[in-house]
Amino acid sequence: MVSIPATWIAVALVAQTGESLRSEPGRDAPVADFHLTASDGRRVSLWGDSQAWPVQVVGVCSAIDPEHEAALARFASLAKARAGRVRVLVICPDREGPDREAVAQVGAANAQIGDAAARPHLALLADPFAIATRRLGFTHADDVMVVDRDLKLFWRGTLRGGSEAAAGEASTFLGSVVDALLAGAAPPSIAGGAQRATALRFDASERKVSWYPDLLPVVRSQCGACHQKNGIGPMDLFDADEARGYAPMMAEVTGQGIMPPWSADPRFAPCRNERRLTDTEKELFRLFAEQGAKLGERPSDVPPAPPVAPTIGDVAWTIGTPDVVWELPHPEEIPAEGVLEYRSALLKPNLPEDAWIEAFECRPSAPQVTHHLVALLVPDDVPDEKAPELSTSFKDAVMGGYVLGALVNWYSPGCVRRLKKG
Ligand code: HEC
Repeated sequence: MVSIPATWIAVALVAQTGESLRSEPGRDAPVADFHLTASDGRRVSLWGDSQAWPVQVVGVCSAIDPEHEAALARFASLAKARAGRVRVLVICPDREGPDREAVAQVGAANAQIGDAAARPHLALLADPFAIATRRLGFTHADDVMVVDRDLKLFWRGTLRGGSEAAAGEASTFLGSVVDALLAGAAPPSIAGGAQRATALRFDASERKVSWYPDLLPVVRSQCGACHQKNGIGPMDLFDADEARGYAPMMAEVTGQGIMPPWSADPRFAPCRNERRLTDTEKELFRLFAEQGAKLGERPSDVPPAPPVAPTIGDVAWTIGTPDVVWELPHPEEIPAEGVLEYRSALLKPNLPEDAWIEAFECRPSAPQVTHHLVALLVPDDVPDEKAPELSTSFKDAVMGGYVLGALVNWYSPGCVRRLKKG
């Protein structure tokens, strides 16, 4: 028997929005997903949030194309003229990433398009290994595709295709394709072949990949929550020597999408705190293993590993220092074997007045034996003595909880939840 002295619950600063899951629309093969880092640091995928966009345009921007700034200007005006209905994803397959002017151009374009700060209509995506570019079959600097809400390919062509004489950037041939999709019509057909732009060149030289500069930042953000000392994962990936021994296995599990564990399908519900590797990060793991797991030079300012799993009296709250901490009234015993029924415990907050909660976090004091717990708010009409017995029937009462590897849910900025006094 293992005795759990107590499970701690804290209140300080958050929560979840009730974004409901959409049912699966019948669909055949969608356009292959890609997942890349945008020039503003966001992680963007074609599938992620696709339900929110009736049209997605995917194009290319490469510095080898002398016209690339003009191309970006066209993409920007396309997004601007149909703000809110079209998301334009521009992939940059250059080893060095997009140049500074291009990044500034995209930033300025988004700033002009209304609510683009929250939901960029135009994204410039770094694809330094040209993985997504090749997966999509892009071979020239003006290749472009138009994808519908169900992620089906509506049209594939060139940015400069069609009538060059069209008046204004937004009414190029691509613009008319997008408008056809928005109107539920068939794509217009191109009159006459347009001259092709520069052919893309994919740099075949191998980029040197090593632990400190390339892998540690990825591990820190994507694996560290579980693979740290006393974490729930089997090894400590902050220990560089231990980690390099796992290089082939890490390449395998990341390549197959097994790690980090994340089974939500991005097509159906955008999730906050999503844990998925970008195509570039997967490639870094692959190259790291292939090139013999070199550590590289250890920078002098490697940030320390995150705090280890909490112990009583030294609880590592991820929400910061809580304003209030409540402890379960009695330790819960967890047998080493067998099936456990749900158990309930009543916790009295004893608040002198109503409180407005920004965040709520539950921490087990014995994470090695705690699978999960759910914290429910007892409805006003349920007497205390009935609360444990009725707890599984409470609707909309979930305050928060804990499950292995999950992050704390923060309430949306500006939102709080009321906890009544008493
Ligand atoms: C949410 C927690 C969590 C995250 C995040 C996570 N892992 Fe894991 N990982 C686990 C757990 C738990 C296991 C053990 C699974 C098992 O034994 O079945 C595991 C197993 C593994 C294994 C296999 C070890 C073995 O012996 O079979 C590798 C390799 C691995 N993880 C690498 C990674 C990498 C690399 C990342 C980040 C890109 C990552 N994990 C992110 C929880 C996590």
